[in-house]
Amino acid sequence: MEKTLVLIKPDAVQKHHIGEIIRRYEQEGFRIVAMKLMQMTKKVAARHYEEHIGRQYYDDLEGFMTSAPIVAMVLEGEDAIARVRKINGKTNPEEADEGTIRKLFAESVRRNAVHASDSTESAAREIPIFFNAAEMYD
Ligand code: PPS
Repeated sequence: MEKTLVLIKPDAVQKHHIGEIIRRYEQEGFRIVAMKLMQMTKKVAARHYEEHIGRQYYDDLEGFMTSAPIVAMVLEGEDAIARVRKINGKTNPEEADEGTIRKLFAESVRRNAVHASDSTESAAREIPIFFNAAEMYD
């Protein structure tokens, strides 16, 4: 069993897609072991996106991710990291496969509906930014 961090980004929250996105993960067999609605601060954004600091798009990314509430959740399941990224689809919605969350709901590489951890190392680093042990359930 593997855990992965998923963020439903401000664009999808504002367009009322929270339910449809969560439903998709549940239908695919993942268990939600932690979840909250929250607004990211610049400090949290900088921790979460630390490897992107300094890139030309960072200010855009930070501004967008802190602009309105997100839903943060931890999903658990077999091969969760790779499978959730497949369900999400490519970062750029123009390249995302049919039926993926980004193909359905994303508008651009910035307003792309969801984030998910890309490796076991990323999941282990990202999950504690959003949840402490008392907020995670078996
Ligand atoms: S990388 O180098 O493969 O990690 O980059 P990539 O996966 O393409 O993008 C990483 C995250 O940066 C966001 N991004 C942007 N945000 C705002 N503006 C622009 N131009 C932009 N380009 C990339 C992208 O949505 C990715 O966010 P996450 O949350 O990781 O999906």
